[in-house]
Amino acid sequence: QDLKAFYTGMPKTELHMHIEGSLEPELMFELAARNNIKLPFATVEDVRKAYDFSNLQDFLDIYYQGMGVLITEQDFYDLTWAYLTKIHGQNVVHTEIFFDPQGHTDRGVSFETVITGISRALEEGLETYGISSRLIMCFLRHLSEDAAFATLEQALSHKDKITGVGLDSSEQGHPPSKFERVFAAAKEAGFLAVAHAGEEGPPDYVYEALDLLKIDRLDHGNRALEDDALVQRLITENMALTVCPLSNYHLAGVSDMRQHPLRKMLDLGLKATLNSDDPAYFGGYMNENFEAVVEPLGMTREHILALARNGIDASFTSVVQKQELQ
Ligand code: ADE
Ligand code: ZN
Repeated sequence: QDLKAFYTGMPKTELHMHIEGSLEPELMFELAARNNIKLPFATVEDVRKAYDFSNLQDFLDIYYQGMGVLITEQDFYDLTWAYLTKIHGQNVVHTEIFFDPQGHTDRGVSFETVITGISRALEEGLETYGISSRLIMCFLRHLSEDAAFATLEQALSHKDKITGVGLDSSEQGHPPSKFERVFAAAKEAGFLAVAHAGEEGPPDYVYEALDLLKIDRLDHGNRALEDDALVQRLITENMALTVCPLSNYHLAGVSDMRQHPLRKMLDLGLKATLNSDDPAYFGGYMNENFEAVVEPLGMTREHILALARNGIDASFTSVVQKQELQ
């Protein structure tokens, strides 16, 4: 109980959150009505009932369907503002947000509409709530290299609003190597880089993310624990991992939170952080993710502080500062 007061009151950072994954069913219905879109669900309860996933692809199918209600700049603003309001209530002071432009441009919504709506909310989030933020544009890995290059091209005229590029969507069968050239071009253009790897995919994909994509931070990375040499390398390179407990519970085969690897990662000396991934789909934001692991894993105040410290240290704001000091 004491620990709960500690982590809820603690200023927090979030480094792994897909803004489209923060679309709560209530807002989904509101936007569907506003845009005259017919949803395949009658009620908010029906939507929540459909959120019963057995793997990543199961979730992604519903996630891409859900984002179909986002049409106008105001929709993207409202989505982002709802997220910022929620996390302000949880003492999150800095957030690094993923967005999936291809999930929108492929439906005829322009890149400008997406980035303008999200960015306007983020600017207001700083003014109104004092929440600092960064934006990370993800490439959908189930789509082609060419499509990723076309997306990178569109991002270039918005470089002032986007700090980094990432890689998400269906992991198995879409290894990081598929995007080696796109990431090289993105890094050349000055973007930082992250990638989802080792969420469902094998340790080899984590090696590829490190060696071929030259990532600055690793998203998930759970399956790296299967390879001792890889763990040692992540420790030596001080590579941060953005771990998402409730997401792993719903998608990645962690069926009992007492088996979740987060505490083990910290005890091994890995720079793990705690994040919500897709909070509207997996049952919670930052505090709920802390709640999901702290007691089941017997975590201490020191573990919680380590997560907070790692989040600050692994933030792109810190990464940029360290690069400038070199
Ligand atoms: N897109 C949104 N959430 C994701 C996740 N957990 N893994 C891969 N792609 C995603
Ligand atoms: Zn994710």
